[in-house]
Amino acid sequence: MKKYSTFILLFACMLFIKSSPVFSADKLLVGVLGASGRTGVHIIDQLKQRDVDIRAFSRRIEGIDDSASLSWVFADVTDEESLNEAFKDVDIIISAIGAAGGDTSETVDYYGTINIVASAKKNKVKQIIYMSSIGAGGAENISTVILNLLADKTMKWKALAEDEIRNSGIPFTIVRPGGLVGEPFSQGIKFSQGDKLLGWIPREDVAAVLIESIFKDGAKNKTFEVINDDSLPVDAWRNEFDSLELNQFGVIASGELPTRYWLMPLLVLIAIIYLIRRRRARKLNHSL
Ligand SMILES: NC(=O)c1ccc[n+]([C@@H]2O[C@H](COP(=O)([O-])OP(=O)(O)OC[C@H]3O[C@@H](n4cnc5c(N)ncnc54)[C@H](OP(=O)(O)O)[C@@H]3O)[C@@H](O)[C@H]2O)c1
Repeated sequence: MKKYSTFILLFACMLFIKSSPVFSADKLLVGVLGASGRTGVHIIDQLKQRDVDIRAFSRRIEGIDDSASLSWVFADVTDEESLNEAFKDVDIIISAIGAAGGDTSETVDYYGTINIVASAKKNKVKQIIYMSSIGAGGAENISTVILNLLADKTMKWKALAEDEIRNSGIPFTIVRPGGLVGEPFSQGIKFSQGDKLLGWIPREDVAAVLIESIFKDGAKNKTFEVINDDSLPVDAWRNEFDSLELNQFGVIASGELPTRYWLMPLLVLIAIIYLIRRRRARKLNHSL
């Protein structure tokens, strides 16, 4: 019986060793939140081409196998305890999380980011790279106003999440993509700041920018928008990080309706009411 239990123990150890990749102490350990998502899968694929160890986070890790240099670990951004465990020894966090299936942007993007920052501080993470969205710094943009009105104030919560990261004291890179569609690696990528443009970009291209931000010093502490631009050479963006400025993030979308969106219609309404009443008064005077 003792012989059998020793054999079972040895077999279990072999299984464990097989499924747990051995990470090198001198390689960067990159933790990816949202690794199972539509952008996250490209982040993982592209990180595998780099000389780094990868820890992929998800709330659904049952049945997913680890592989060389990649391990899957449970993490729920709404539960700070899970992040405290998950972020142990992680050097860089890339976040491509997004609220889905009944969760709100407030819970996942905003309160989730508060937890990410708190846990990253505890674990001495060296950089947070955050996938946000065009519009988070465009409080006056019509698209931002509509998204805030119709989609649970998404831009407000993304904007406040960005602020939490910018004010964390942890080196950061905040990437704001345009609409996520298109043919990957087929067009140049335009960087912009101040949230003044609209456009499209494929998820694979966004993943490439997020990953390059690990390796470019010029990406540190910058917030910028990315869209495809067919007038630019496909790979030219890789040298554009240095030209980005610090502290350029536009006007944070507060979720309130900007003054110009209600003031002008209100003035027009008052003018119409005034004209109608004046006309009625004239008619009354004539009929007397
Ligand atoms: N759609 C657009 O045009 C557009 C444009 C600009 C920016 N964006 C933004 O880009 C981001 C990524 O978009 P996507 O379409 O690639 O995402 P997606 O496919 O919807 O994936 C979302 C990811 O978030 C993770 N997640 C959700 N709640 C979580 C939680 N509580 N804890 C941990 N992980 C959680 C999910 O992981 P698990 O379920 O495995 O845990 C999943 O991997 C989103 O924030 C989105 O708003 C979208």
